[in-house]
Amino acid sequence: MNKSIVIYQSKYGTTERYARWIAEELNGAIVPYSRVTLAQLENYQNIVFGGAVYIGETSGTDFFKKYAPILKTKRLFLFTVGISDPAETGNQAVIRQSLKKQIPSDIYDRLHIYHFSGALDFETMTFAHRTIMKMIVGTLKRKDVNDRTPEDNSIIEAYGKSLDLTNRADIYPLIEAVRAV
Ligand SMILES: Cc1cc2nc3c(=O)[nH]c(=O)nc-3n(C[C@H](O)[C@H](O)[C@H](O)COP(=O)(O)O)c2cc1C
Repeated sequence: MNKSIVIYQSKYGTTERYARWIAEELNGAIVPYSRVTLAQLENYQNIVFGGAVYIGETSGTDFFKKYAPILKTKRLFLFTVGISDPAETGNQAVIRQSLKKQIPSDIYDRLHIYHFSGALDFETMTFAHRTIMKMIVGTLKRKDVNDRTPEDNSIIEAYGKSLDLTNRADIYPLIEAVRAV
């Protein structure tokens, strides 16, 4: 049994887009986190979970607490989707630090983790999110330029724009890791 299921938590559809690409490549099932069931998880050996990064935290990661007992018997893959450049090790470190706090340590240690680039569209963003972005950017801009992290700079740069950095080719290292048994 080496079947795969992709579970995702997505607000504006970017993480869902990656989840669809991954499920397509793996010939796997795909289901939003809100609809996943324990019975479903039992049927799959490879569990791929995707969540978007909001204010440094990956959404939906309580999945790993909620289903911890069954997940201990599975191969586990996690991908995050955010606007900060995932090639920057500083950005990865920020995301992983918070993942470590969010996910039980025995499960975290068994995760294969990947980071993908997302999208931001200020036109479709909720008022609440637009307000948060405005506050975050205001705070970041008040920081001394030398104290800003690469993530800070990405967020400042993205503010007010619509940009789409999603890239299907980025999923292949994850796909190969899932296939490698
Ligand atoms: C309020 C807000 C906060 C965000 N915080 C971060 C962040 O801390 N780090 C990051 O890389 N991206 C951040 N983003 C960008 C989202 O991760 C990005 O838009 C992602 O593609 C959203 O995925 P979704 O469409 O699946 O929800 C933020 C976006 C919003 C609207």
